[in-house]
Amino acid sequence: MDGVTVINHPLVQHKLTIMRKKETSTAGFRRLLREISTLLCYEVTRDLELTLETIETPMQVIQAPVLEGKKLVFASILRAGNGLLEGMLELVPSARVSHVGVYRDHETLEAVEYYFKAPESLSERLVIVVDPMLATGNSSIAAIDKLKERGATKLRFLCLLAAPEGIRNFQTAHPDVPIYTAAIDSHLNEHGYIVPGLGDAGDRMYGTK
Ligand code: URA
Repeated sequence: MDGVTVINHPLVQHKLTIMRKKETSTAGFRRLLREISTLLCYEVTRDLELTLETIETPMQVIQAPVLEGKKLVFASILRAGNGLLEGMLELVPSARVSHVGVYRDHETLEAVEYYFKAPESLSERLVIVVDPMLATGNSSIAAIDKLKERGATKLRFLCLLAAPEGIRNFQTAHPDVPIYTAAIDSHLNEHGYIVPGLGDAGDRMYGTK
């Protein structure tokens, strides 16, 4: 599928299967989420640009590669996006973090922003937007609208599971934002849940109902 990278690394697929199991505990789910998000982060950053820096090893001076440009931004869509942050920050400790909270007004059906915080110079940074589930796509579309309104131009979207309906909506709204996911599932049910999915990602990671 154009614009969608399915991260099919065997460790990602194995961990995802355990996360899908309904008997996996909250503690187990959280641990797996941290582990899998590190692997997903590795893949979503695989083609970042490098520049050369002059350094001195104990033996000699060399030109060695370092990440080019300003620090990355990981933008978490509240609340479930937060579950992906810990593992990603382990891999890229210097990344900046943005939090975006949006909900849909039942009457107007407009996306309402209830929280937004981001580092300065968004326009000069790669922003990796994270949410475990790309279901209808409504919240990720709205969150990316908000990030673009604040200047973000280079974005990627990272999730665990995506539904075909969500991918279609997302790509219609933001064709410039590549999607990275561990799997594309069958469909959405009548309540907007991904099938077969893993249930409510927020509830499973925080032990709520
Ligand atoms: N959000 C979730 O947490 N799970 C789904 O299946 C869909 C949306």
